[in-house]
Amino acid sequence: MKVLVIGGGGREHALAWKLAQGQKVSQVYVATGNGGTARDHRFKNVPITDVKALADFVESEKIGLTVVGPEAYLALGVVDEFRARGLRIFGPTKAAAQLESSKAYAKDFMKRHGIPTAAYETFGDVASAKAYVDRMGAPIVIKADGLAAGKGVVVAMTLKEAHDAIEWILEENRLGVTHNAGGACVVIEEFMQGEEASFIVLCDGKNVLALATSQDHKRLQDGDQGPNTGGMGAYSPAPVVTPNVHAKVMHEIIHPTIAGMAKDGHPFTGFLYAGLMIDAQGNPRTVEFNTRMGDPETQPIMMRLKSDLCDVLMHATDGTLDGVELQWDRRVALGVVLAAEGYPLHPRKGDAITGLPPETEDAVVFHAGTAEKDGVLLTSGGRVLCVTALGESVRTAQQHAYDAIKSIEFAGKQFRTDIGHRAAKR
Ligand code: AMP
Ligand code: GLY
Repeated sequence: MKVLVIGGGGREHALAWKLAQGQKVSQVYVATGNGGTARDHRFKNVPITDVKALADFVESEKIGLTVVGPEAYLALGVVDEFRARGLRIFGPTKAAAQLESSKAYAKDFMKRHGIPTAAYETFGDVASAKAYVDRMGAPIVIKADGLAAGKGVVVAMTLKEAHDAIEWILEENRLGVTHNAGGACVVIEEFMQGEEASFIVLCDGKNVLALATSQDHKRLQDGDQGPNTGGMGAYSPAPVVTPNVHAKVMHEIIHPTIAGMAKDGHPFTGFLYAGLMIDAQGNPRTVEFNTRMGDPETQPIMMRLKSDLCDVLMHATDGTLDGVELQWDRRVALGVVLAAEGYPLHPRKGDAITGLPPETEDAVVFHAGTAEKDGVLLTSGGRVLCVTALGESVRTAQQHAYDAIKSIEFAGKQFRTDIGHRAAKR
């Protein structure tokens, strides 16, 4: 069977890598892929980004399963288009993808269905937004309503920072957000304290299958300092998600969300990613929903998955996930992102990359912002590589990943030296 992965980041490289191990998989296409998938005979890059053209390609190549990586395609309705043409695709419809594409929709949904999350208000004008912030006090969280590739959120420690963020979003769009219909809008939220974790499940519309837990590091610099990014590294499992917390998340967040979406007429199919804040008492609340896999969480999760991903996704698209049990490597997987100079605001492109270590059973370099030009591998985006390794403990996985990085060189490379620090302390 031929399969297609839509996207070109580290997440898509890891999904394609895992799908290629499938018993029934004869060819893995990646649209559009990256320098890593271009170089590897297991994959074939396809230079198509248009939704209708992708469906045409799938029809003409007789591709049996398509998996969507990035949220932007979901928000464009790629799943609706494929389904209308009778093509098998794993992901949420455009309507269901609003759980991620509109923070206002997600917050209203959670309120309506009693799903624990931070208190919030939505504003379209600067004066009332500022007045609300003054009433609530700092710290407070300001979010742009719309897709922002993880950069549309300001955790304001002071009122001044909160006011500035409101102006950036509503007047200047300095965060570069793609606004939803109706124009710029901010969601202002209560600041939640605790430890974050990524909780990702597969859904087939009614059945749910939890993936291994994970945790990412959103800030650019060591010690969780510096600006928010798409994620500078991740590991799985996340020790903060104890069996007790896991049960609470399923009972209080995941099941009510799936039931609520079905009740609202938008049954959820695809990866559902709940970003959690877990307080000192072990009570989880939802920071956000994503309607796709996490990046870089996918890289360590795929390294730990022993089951045949293609088989699992065939069940997921048949509505028979209740018959599936996932097998996991009991080791820890940990991925460290190497980012380009200037990331996250103005990443530089075109630097030559050398010294990539060969893939081994327990260390893989997943590519993201890389491109191959005349046989040379160049940086082509903000997050360039995610070096992912397995180990018996967090510390050994950490050591292993950092060892694998040593030989990799490109001008201006940035990476954190403390990925996994919270888990290593537990
Ligand atoms: P989001 O894009 O909604 O996931 O937000 C990005 C990051 O901002 C999260 O991973 C958190 O670290 C932080 N954040 C977002 N909302 C809150 C909140 N209500 N309280 C505390 N931190 C938050
Ligand atoms: N790593 C966070 C995300 O994928 O949204």
